[in-house]
Amino acid sequence: MLRIDTSAVSAAKLEALLPRTLEGHKKLQAKSGAGAEYTDWVTLPDDYDKDEYKRLLGAAERIAGQSEVLVVVGIGGSYLGSRAVIDYLLSPYYNGTAGKKTPDILFAGCNLSGDALQKLTDRIGDRDFTINIISKSGGTTEPAVAFRYFRALAEKKYGKDGARKRIIATTDKARGILKTLSDGEGYETFVIPDGVGGRYSVLTPVGLLPIAAAGIDTDALISGAYTMMEACKTAKGLENPALAYAAARGALYESGKKIEVLASFDPDFVYMGEWWKQLYGESEGKEGKGLFPASVSYTADLHSMGQYMQQGERTLFETFIRTKSPTGGITVEADPQNADGLNFLAGKSIDEINDAAYEGTKKAHTDGGVPCLTVDLGCKCAKCAGELIYFFEYACGVSGYTLGVNPFDQPGVEAYKKNMFELLGKPGA
Ligand code: PA5
Repeated sequence: MLRIDTSAVSAAKLEALLPRTLEGHKKLQAKSGAGAEYTDWVTLPDDYDKDEYKRLLGAAERIAGQSEVLVVVGIGGSYLGSRAVIDYLLSPYYNGTAGKKTPDILFAGCNLSGDALQKLTDRIGDRDFTINIISKSGGTTEPAVAFRYFRALAEKKYGKDGARKRIIATTDKARGILKTLSDGEGYETFVIPDGVGGRYSVLTPVGLLPIAAAGIDTDALISGAYTMMEACKTAKGLENPALAYAAARGALYESGKKIEVLASFDPDFVYMGEWWKQLYGESEGKEGKGLFPASVSYTADLHSMGQYMQQGERTLFETFIRTKSPTGGITVEADPQNADGLNFLAGKSIDEINDAAYEGTKKAHTDGGVPCLTVDLGCKCAKCAGELIYFFEYACGVSGYTLGVNPFDQPGVEAYKKNMFELLGKPGA
């Protein structure tokens, strides 16, 4: 079970924040706070469409049977969660792994780079592919443009009927251009529930279909989220991990910290950091308020951001993520010559060296004036990943309410679109 260490924040400061975090917690449980219509993710690990989930697992198997590549087309909350889970549990090297029986998963529609789209097309080459277009609104420009492109590619390769069997849409149950288009063309569809916003949707078909297609145990993922849902519902005060995290980050924010840096020592965690940044940035950054969420991947970033972390402006705090590798890792061997002077490490696993790097970094940064929280995930498995996802979502909702904002809207995202559409001459823009 996930554990959080908030000892960098004094008990008095945590206690001072607790009443407001408890208030946020109550609002989430009662689904009564600002944006309550988007809080169905709170009960999602229990309350989801079981028949649709069975159909989803069948679709994942079918994709693996018919395609070497699954092209996931989506942006923001419509792709970050699945990418994060696949990278974290399987590795960023998953695609192209020799002998695997599940398809490569390639992500498109998350930028407007023609070059990137061309390179992705080259990467697919002449391999068979299936497309999963994901958009809750159904009309977001980036995925819509990429989908038009891949749909045409599929129709050229497989014909209209053949393409129909290779296009799956994940979208609203009734509204939006994508839903209309999919019904018109006869594509299989999966539903993004009304009450779940994009960045809270990883445990809906948005995340679950690509994750299942990659061969990850989605039952275990959901069961981990369920365990954390129960813990968040029942654990009292600071024993509730999500409330402890929300109280600690709230206290640090109020004491002048403006940036939270999520730091992991596992390179597979990089996209979890991207997912977390979207979750917290889009949920809290409004009305001139909110911690700026940043992430680093150690030890690589100790050689780039490490200097700033140690001695830069003291307006940040760090949240370390700890995971235990399931493989046990590789051990450094003794070398009779010891020409590189590394025999002091002989017999130690690389993970043990990584653990020492973590301990050393945490101490150095603490000594350098950076308050350090730690989230310990226990082991690196689908169940613990499910716990982590729910934990971060719940703490984010509570944090947003503690801050006094609506954590479930994103009014600021529209500004760039307005300008872009005007420049592109969109009718009515
Ligand atoms: O969290 C959010 O709501 C956003 O990041 C959306 O997920 C993102 O803008 C994509 O929207 P849509 O799924 O409607 O295409």
